[in-house]
Amino acid sequence: MKKRIKISPSLLSADFSRLGEEVKAVTEAGADFIHFDVMDGHFVPNISFGPMVLKAIRKFSHLPFEAHLMISQPEKYWREFADAGADVIGIHIENNMNHGQLIEEIHKHNKKVCMVVNPPTDITAVYPFLEDIEQLLIMTVNPGFGGQEFIKEVVPKIEKISEIRAKKGLVLEVAIDGGINYKTAEVVKEAGADILIAGSFIFHGGDYKEVIEGLRG
Ligand code: DX5
Ligand code: ZN
Repeated sequence: MKKRIKISPSLLSADFSRLGEEVKAVTEAGADFIHFDVMDGHFVPNISFGPMVLKAIRKFSHLPFEAHLMISQPEKYWREFADAGADVIGIHIENNMNHGQLIEEIHKHNKKVCMVVNPPTDITAVYPFLEDIEQLLIMTVNPGFGGQEFIKEVVPKIEKISEIRAKKGLVLEVAIDGGINYKTAEVVKEAGADILIAGSFIFHGGDYKEVIEGLRG
């Protein structure tokens, strides 16, 4: 049986003046997650939104929310996102901190962990954590902005993780974020992706349901 691909719209490309309605619209259009990109102007060269915004829009969907933390001290702030209603906490391997300890803390709080790896980072950096996380997010753009071009050189990383997962019988889901459209969706699905995160292609792409179903394939 063909596996069902999950779609996670990134609110970074939504209409911020009606964010709640946008969350509701992609939920009704069949999304599987809501992706919430948090940027602090330090870890990445852009600033987006914080826990107060997440809390305000949480009631517009029953779907799990993922807080993708592109910030300098996730260990200091993740709890605020959890308390605001995030179900999955996305932490970057590039942050200088004790990842093992943070994963444990997040789990103790009954939240899921998504470890995120940037395009220039060697994929072996995440190997020690693969058995302890629910999701691995492989970035296919350098984080900070929506609407960038897919970096195809990252695809072998997806293949490598899929191979390791199969060999070791791991349960983690593989998510891809950045430059996803109909063409790149096929490439990453072929490489083994389970969750596709897409911002500009969904929110600037016309009918949300049609685009979400098209990406899922
Ligand atoms: C980039 C963010 C992405 C972004 C994707 O830093 O993590 O989630 O919104 O945008 P698109 O799909 O437009 O590349
Ligand atoms: Zn993201």
